[in-house]
Amino acid sequence: MSEMEKPIVKISCQNLWKVFGRNPQHALNLIKDGMSKEEVLEQTGHVIAVRDISFDVTEGEIFVIMGLSGSGKSTLIRCINRLIKPTMGRIFIDGVDLSTMSGAKLRRTRRHKVCMVFQQFALFPHRSVVDNAAYGLEVQGVEKAQRKKRVLEALEMVGLKGWENSYPDELSGGMQQRVGLARALAVDPEVLLMDEPFGALDPLIRRQMQDEFINLMSVVHKTIVFITHDLNEALKLGERIAIMKDGQIVQIGSPEEIVSVPADEYVTEFVRDVPRSKVVSVRNIMREPELKLYRWQGPKVALHAMSEKNIRRAFIVDSWGRLSGVITLNEVARAIVRHVQRLDEVAREHALQIGPDQAIEEVIPLAASSDNPVAVVDEGGRLIGEVPRVALLLGMMGKENSNDTT
Ligand SMILES: Nc1ncnc2c1ncn2[C@@H]1O[C@H](COP(=O)(O)OP(=O)(O)OP(=O)(O)O)[C@@H](O)[C@H]1O
Ligand SMILES: [Mg+2]
Repeated sequence: MSEMEKPIVKISCQNLWKVFGRNPQHALNLIKDGMSKEEVLEQTGHVIAVRDISFDVTEGEIFVIMGLSGSGKSTLIRCINRLIKPTMGRIFIDGVDLSTMSGAKLRRTRRHKVCMVFQQFALFPHRSVVDNAAYGLEVQGVEKAQRKKRVLEALEMVGLKGWENSYPDELSGGMQQRVGLARALAVDPEVLLMDEPFGALDPLIRRQMQDEFINLMSVVHKTIVFITHDLNEALKLGERIAIMKDGQIVQIGSPEEIVSVPADEYVTEFVRDVPRSKVVSVRNIMREPELKLYRWQGPKVALHAMSEKNIRRAFIVDSWGRLSGVITLNEVARAIVRHVQRLDEVAREHALQIGPDQAIEEVIPLAASSDNPVAVVDEGGRLIGEVPRVALLLGMMGKENSNDTT
């Protein structure tokens, strides 16, 4: 996204608290007086499940929440659609305050704007797949023909075409979870709240569901809050990740930030086993190209520039700065002998290209296949940097390029 378009805030949580117990206000006062969460629990039996949480989720974003069991993830996500009433604080969706909403207005928001997907989907055993997936629309009061049309579309999206008339006990766990997803998608909500939706699936199916989910979300534009225990899932799906501990958010950041600069011991513990190459992007290790030659320049000029910089190969660009090829010193020398006039007559296409936001991991096989540096090109094909092998090795070891090339 360009810096000029300002992202639209879809969900905003502001100083949210949830205290479970008979007299939450009393517990809050004790906390204000400096008592710890543990002391409050011990002395009064109140659980401080969510503690002064603030964050925004922008439209179209996948916002992942991670944290150990009991850290307050489910409580938080349930506050967002007001399945649970927060003790204090505010929740806005599209700027409308849900924390004070009640009655019919709240029900309408819940049915149309926000949908929840759980880990264990409660499918009705005596209902077919179609009728299970239609449940959300039924609650909305959508009439039957319309319902059927939207449900069939949703089932197709989640890959259940052909299973419409089956019953839940004929489906695998993964397929049952797809029915749950279809139920939410049929409603076509703007916000999807997902509480460990793939948590009960075995690893292979789980990864497959993640891939499909990413594809699906690039087609249907939704804002998503996604809870998971699984770091790899978080790093794969999340545009930003919030790490929760004891009811608080200890860090919010991009996957890359979370892995590169964990805020504390707790986060470090979470990300200990992640290879950096999976999440650190090319942007962080690329350099300015050492030399750019232009297509219309001749080999003598190239020879001069290359020997001056003492390099053996250079990228060739067009007048827009778009990468059009690569040439080695030997090829330049041969071109001079053959009286070649322009570099574009002899340049070779450069196959080693990568985008600035791809993970370092993806450069490794490219770099291994050749001695040439990997070219970093932007969406318009313009050459914006290069990744020499040395930088790649350093990047994998955790030493990034300090001069900012972006
Ligand atoms: N209805 C409730 N009444 C009392 N305490 C509750 C209630 N619901 C949750 N809690 C407590 O609030 C804290 C946060 O629970 P929550 O379910 O939000 O955690 P979680 O991060 O979703 O955990 P998990 O990963 O196991 O799902 C826990 O200490 C839990 O015992
Ligand atoms: Mg939970």
